Amino acid sequence: MSYQDSRLKLLSGSAHPELANEIASYLDVPMSSASVGRFPDGEIDIKLHEDIRGSDVFVVQPTGPPVNENIIELLLMVDTLRRASAGRITAVIPYFGYARKDRKDEGRVPISAKVIANMLVGSGVDRVLTIDLHAQQIQGFFDIPVDHLWARGVLEETVHGMNLNNLVVCSPDVGGVKLARAWAKSLHAPLAIVDKRRTSGTTVVMENVIGDIEGCNVLLSDDMISTAGTITEASRILKEKGAKRVIIAATHAVLCGPAVERLQNCAAEKVLVSNTMALRGELPDNLEVVSVAPLLARAITRIHREESVSALFEDENIT
Ligand code: R5P
Repeated sequence: MSYQDSRLKLLSGSAHPELANEIASYLDVPMSSASVGRFPDGEIDIKLHEDIRGSDVFVVQPTGPPVNENIIELLLMVDTLRRASAGRITAVIPYFGYARKDRKDEGRVPISAKVIANMLVGSGVDRVLTIDLHAQQIQGFFDIPVDHLWARGVLEETVHGMNLNNLVVCSPDVGGVKLARAWAKSLHAPLAIVDKRRTSGTTVVMENVIGDIEGCNVLLSDDMISTAGTITEASRILKEKGAKRVIIAATHAVLCGPAVERLQNCAAEKVLVSNTMALRGELPDNLEVVSVAPLLARAITRIHREESVSALFEDENIT
């Protein structure tokens, strides 16, 4: 029996059921039923309520905050599915936590992303479907197929609607240049870079902008907004150097610590993000959220039918 013949099943952990439900409605499949509870001591208790034997199962669980809870929950769900004889298990991890620890950049530190990859494979995951990994080389930490999607095209549809003329695309740091270049190529705009120095986990210093942005509208691109130190400081220096309007476009809205307050008071007029993670609680007024559910639904359909996923991104150029 091929996976094409098997039933497609969609399951959600508790990290982002809203996204899973949206994907289910695009796929026109019902959500499979499972309950995720807690034992009195806080341990996670999972129970699958239907037969998934031989099915092609996709488990949706971004591993953002609470990161450790969401990761363990995903591992236990995968173990449940494996022991219930699922035909194939794909972990759909729209936001992959711990991705920033992808190398030993100093002595006596872990390579956390590799540990997470090992745990996922060890629990029985057959494939991973993810979006905008912080570092693409993390794909190589898995000895199973990883389908990697870009959210840039989804965000770009909204950017087009803003009719931004005289546009420059800017990266807030050197690490984000590849992504900014893809934006610049697609929008036919020149590229600029902010010279960023990180001074702590929550603070950065920016003094210079490389490239001409004076009098221009600037699209500031990044893969994630965590404490929002990077993106708000970059917006400040861009305005200080004469940018007209600053629009932020970032895939993952982690929004931890002072992020909401920083974004609320930031120099950018709009903060465009996707829903790779659940956005709960108070959010800044300038935040606009675009859904990656249609993109994930298309990728899931293609994986299920054994069709090319990279065909979805023939025009993407981030290598
Ligand atoms: C850095 O390499 C990333 O692309 C982001 O710019 C960074 O992780 C964002 O963090 P924060 O929002 O805390 O400055």
